[in-house]
Amino acid sequence: MPSPASPATASDKAERYADTRRRIDALLDGPTDWVSAMATVACELHHSFGHYDWTGFYRAVSDETLLVGPYQGPHGCLHIDFDRGVCGAAARTRETQLWPDVSKAPDHIACQSSTQSEVVVPVLTPSDDLLAVLDVDSDTLGAFDPTDREHLEALCRDLGEQFGNTELR
Ligand code: SME
Repeated sequence: MPSPASPATASDKAERYADTRRRIDALLDGPTDWVSAMATVACELHHSFGHYDWTGFYRAVSDETLLVGPYQGPHGCLHIDFDRGVCGAAARTRETQLWPDVSKAPDHIACQSSTQSEVVVPVLTPSDDLLAVLDVDSDTLGAFDPTDREHLEALCRDLGEQFGNTELR
């Protein structure tokens, strides 16, 4: 299924996030686990927005290492240390990393040379452990803005609450 065009305005984008979120919530409202949830979220987000060119999760497998999880798009780096890259910064600081222009990010890891902008949001459990980070990359400069940040942070907060007690990481 081809991705739809990027939303034209901020309110179109917010509406598209609300629709996507309704589908994700409906899909995750049943027997599932964290791996199935990550796969479903990556798929739904990726195919809902034209500005999403790589969409997926890196799982926190220790206090210093991320390993790639379910994703959509071209191949991603398999392993990222917390002290490297935009994903590592999100894991280390537990804060969203929003880079409308990745050439300005001091240690951006270019898994794909076509990437121009990126947003990475941590997924924390209710007891404040890092479960994963959600990474979205775009081949369009300035693709991500505070609207993306707001909706992705709300999604990741709820995923952390729903799947934070899982033993499957
Ligand atoms: N750009 C990320 C690496 C992951 S991929 O692009 C899929 C980073 O700098 O952490």
